[in-house]
Amino acid sequence: MTYASREEKEEYEKEKKFEWSNANVLHVSIANVFFSLLCAGLLSLSKDVDKFKFVFKISRKTFNYICSLVKEHMTAKTANFMFSNGNPMSINDQVAIALRRLSSGDSLIAVADSFGTNHSTVSQVTWRFVEAMEEKGIHHLQWPSTEQEMAVVKSKFEKIRGLPNCCGAIDTTHITMLLSSSEMASNVWLDREKNRSMILQAIVDSEMRFRDVVTGWPGKMNDFDVLQRSTLFKLCEKGERLNGNKIRLSEGTELSEYIVGDLGFPLLPWLVTPYQGKDLSDPKAEFNKRHFATRMVAQRAMARLKENVEDYSRSDVETRQE
Ligand SMILES: *[C@@H]1O[C@H](CO)[C@@H](O)[C@H](O)[C@H]1NC(C)=O
Ligand SMILES: *[C@@H]1O[C@H](CO)[C@@H](O)[C@H](O)[C@H]1NC(C)=O
Repeated sequence: MTYASREEKEEYEKEKKFEWSNANVLHVSIANVFFSLLCAGLLSLSKDVDKFKFVFKISRKTFNYICSLVKEHMTAKTANFMFSNGNPMSINDQVAIALRRLSSGDSLIAVADSFGTNHSTVSQVTWRFVEAMEEKGIHHLQWPSTEQEMAVVKSKFEKIRGLPNCCGAIDTTHITMLLSSSEMASNVWLDREKNRSMILQAIVDSEMRFRDVVTGWPGKMNDFDVLQRSTLFKLCEKGERLNGNKIRLSEGTELSEYIVGDLGFPLLPWLVTPYQGKDLSDPKAEFNKRHFATRMVAQRAMARLKENVEDYSRSDVETRQE
């Protein structure tokens, strides 16, 4: 590796250190970007071998849509990016560079060379894109904001198997990652099944819509650890979420809002888990059946998402091997 100047070398090394210490941050960002795209139904993978798809693995229509999503955010900041030959970089150029960097795992230098720019520009453009996507991603994921909207969610949950006042189903899944060889050496991502994976925790509504998502925690963490670190947990504990209408049960007791989750989660005032143990009484066994049927929406939503993610990784591998 040769550098034009000492400054350039220093900057490159700074960037490398930054990249290394921020490996987690980068993974969280990638996860969020992909997740946003998946939720928006944008990451469908066509098998067509159109050149554009080959490079970016998305259709031109999707590419244009992504550009329109991030345009406002990316032009709001003042820096004007340029190619090495002095030509200005359009938003489309910047998105193309960022997507290449995020999806190929190629080094900053390799991406910079292939686009005719330098590594520091690639790095800045990529982070700006990630920021813009995260801002837009939130737009696709929204906790029901009004009592009326929540009432619709609750009534649809109740229709599944009769659980009243249920607002969501929580589940956690592991997304296996493709890592560079330096990251393979680290055990941070090793999960219980000895795969390298990242955790995705999601709360899904009665129609399999994602309402709250946490991504990017290493696969070795358990479900409760991830939950405790989430904003949702903090809001619920402060009484600022799942604090809507209570319902009066026949015995005169009140039932506040809650979500349902499996035994990987703790039983909390706002998180209802199944009864544990063998030889449960009939009402308890019946409750568990209903609970299971209700939380299936989350498992199905996760399975659907995972298929997409894994399709994505596979296509990435195939592309790289060619
Ligand atoms: C990278 O390219 C940009 C635009 O051409 C230039 O302003 C910047 O100084 C370059 N940085 C390095 C480290 O070469
Ligand atoms: C983990 O790896 C094993 C084989 O090594 C595989 O059978 C299993 O499906 C993997 N788990 C996940 C969650 O990908």
